[in-house]
Amino acid sequence: MKKVRIVGVVGARPNFMKMAPVLRELSKCEEFESRLVHTGQHYDESMSRVFFRDLNMPNPEFNLEVGSGSHAVQTAEIMKRFEEVCWSVKPDLVVVAGDVNSTLACALTAAKLQIPVAHIEAGLRSFDRSMPEEINRIITDSLSDILFTTEESGNRNLRREGIAEEKIHFVGNTMIDSLVDCYGLVDEAPAQGSLASINGAPYFLATIHRPSNVDDPAQLVRVLEILESASRLAPVFFVSHPRTYQRLEQVKRADKLVELNGHAANIQRGIIYLLPPLPYMEFLRLMSKSRALVTDSGGIQEETTFLNIPCLTLRDNTERPVTVELGTNQIVGLDQKKIVSSLRRIMGKTWQAAVTPPLWDGRAAERIVKILRKKRSLLSARAAA
Ligand code: UD1
Repeated sequence: MKKVRIVGVVGARPNFMKMAPVLRELSKCEEFESRLVHTGQHYDESMSRVFFRDLNMPNPEFNLEVGSGSHAVQTAEIMKRFEEVCWSVKPDLVVVAGDVNSTLACALTAAKLQIPVAHIEAGLRSFDRSMPEEINRIITDSLSDILFTTEESGNRNLRREGIAEEKIHFVGNTMIDSLVDCYGLVDEAPAQGSLASINGAPYFLATIHRPSNVDDPAQLVRVLEILESASRLAPVFFVSHPRTYQRLEQVKRADKLVELNGHAANIQRGIIYLLPPLPYMEFLRLMSKSRALVTDSGGIQEETTFLNIPCLTLRDNTERPVTVELGTNQIVGLDQKKIVSSLRRIMGKTWQAAVTPPLWDGRAAERIVKILRKKRSLLSARAAA
């Protein structure tokens, strides 16, 4: 029996936790042979390699080492290099995840070579085309043959866009699979020096990296002012992304911003503590014990909903509405007054409690592989044709 050859693609940090459980499930099935490609969109030790370790992922067979660049340059470079991989491996299926440039570039390359594409986390829409991720989502979904969705809104969006019903599969959230796998082990994750000394005192955790919040210095200063006022209620740990870190160098830093970098410090209110990007387990640990998240990330809106930790999203929209409808998330933009009053409510413990969204049960990857097994003959037939 010829094995179905599957190429899984990862490129940027949020892809790793979405792909790891799927690779693990695929490796249990004899009828599949899977290979992993890393585009190298994220390349720093702290943005990439530590995640392979924490998520127990196999080393990628191909690293395209594309690195940073403008959207067009990065996308084009990934396409050029991924096409060569497709020529040499001849996959029967390419599996992409999420909404980053690597997702779009590899889906487009595969579709042009008439290789079927499966998209994990299909159908999410912010309806805001100023976000590069929204463009990536729309195009990737329109090119995909198998669309795995995480929430009901994704199914609705895809139907509205005319995607055939038989291509849409509501499977749940593979990022939550990773969270379920790792959560029991978080207390074993090493805490950075001064973080170990928090000892149950409340704190907020912040992550801000969207171009719309950090690329314009005036916006970034507004974000810092918000974090500064939040810190008067409880110390803020601000885990920086390289993009944010670079931009912070260009603005007048808030007086109350202290870089931690693992040094011991006397953690106190009124201060924003700047941390480098953290490994998955360490971030989970810090998130699980925080009083609230202040973020513009996509994935964190989902993780906080699952963990029932209040989340304030510093954006004007979300592509993950279930986190607002059932979860702990509120969309607050950069409205400082609203944010501070929300944080006061959170400190008073009167925030909405989460109901776990349907199928966020740690078994999404299992469902994905079950569906791929059902489609197995279709995939091999196409490959043979
Ligand atoms: C990308 C995704 C975004 C995701 C984010 C998570 C796209 C369009 N955006 O944004 O959806 O939320 O990843 O992190 O794909 N850099 C480093 N080291 C690295 C990677 C990046 O220093 O390992 C710096 C580079 O200077 C680069 C900048 O960060 O120019 C931005 O990286 P890029 O991959 O282009 O986009 P992200 O902002 O990370």
